[in-house]
Amino acid sequence: MRRHQLDIQLKTPEQIEKMRAAGLVVAAALAQMRAAVSPGVTTAELDAIAESVIREAGAVPSFKGYHGYPATICSSVNEQVVHAIPSPEQVLREGDLVSLDCGAILDGWHGDAAITVGVGEVRPELLRMAEVAEDAMWAGIAAAARGMLSRRGRLTDISYAVERTVRAAGPYGIVEGYGGHGIGTEMHQDPHVLNHGRPGRGPRLVAGMALAIEPMITMGSPRTVELADGWTVVTRDGSVAAHVEHSMALLEDGVWVLTAPDGGRARLGDLVTAREPARTAAVD
Ligand code: MF3
Ligand code: CO
Repeated sequence: MRRHQLDIQLKTPEQIEKMRAAGLVVAAALAQMRAAVSPGVTTAELDAIAESVIREAGAVPSFKGYHGYPATICSSVNEQVVHAIPSPEQVLREGDLVSLDCGAILDGWHGDAAITVGVGEVRPELLRMAEVAEDAMWAGIAAAARGMLSRRGRLTDISYAVERTVRAAGPYGIVEGYGGHGIGTEMHQDPHVLNHGRPGRGPRLVAGMALAIEPMITMGSPRTVELADGWTVVTRDGSVAAHVEHSMALLEDGVWVLTAPDGGRARLGDLVTAREPARTAAVD
């Protein structure tokens, strides 16, 4: 049963090209931040790096001012799951695991992505959890591509692929209450993309859809609390969490991972649209 009619914005290939440009700006900001992560760096310094990369590309940070959010990135350390506000007081320490989440608007179109990075030497089980979150994200993207190409796929095939990947990997908590989303001329559009659930439900996966896929998992319980700042989401049991995200679009001939520099080619092979090498060749 459908609670409300979803308002899904389908994009033309030309609009998806614009989203690709925005996605590459986000990818560049994340790459610069990844390179800067080390013990002693503050999350405010990472925020400044992201903002300068975005503005130098002629884009605008999408998080800043979003419902009053005060920064360019969310930097969620250890038991912080998502939406933690960067601060000059928050110094990264050896062994921390940090999710860096970043969004940009270029020419009216949004990109949104996140990476989870270890600071210095990190407990292997935490790095493994971050890898599981990534595997789950790519499984969700692959499910979307296959579902679109077969013309039989539905939205929750993505949710199911994410959940199944995480459950098969170990006893991780899958955070509920947050998830992926449509993306386009706004950062958050219909539909909401759950990170768990039965396949075969929801709208059909069709060319023109653009979605952000963002699993959030924990070393312990999936339960979370929002702190008094109105933003920071932490695990209730204090366990460490990981969060990764890509924005992707479905084209007639395959998926385009808009915030991945290679468009998703390394992880997805032939499921990626033929537009990807064409564009890479043109840019080289
Ligand atoms: N990437 C986050 C998401 O998809 C957005 C951060 S919320 C903000 O929900 F307020 F920081 F913008
Ligand atoms: Co998002």
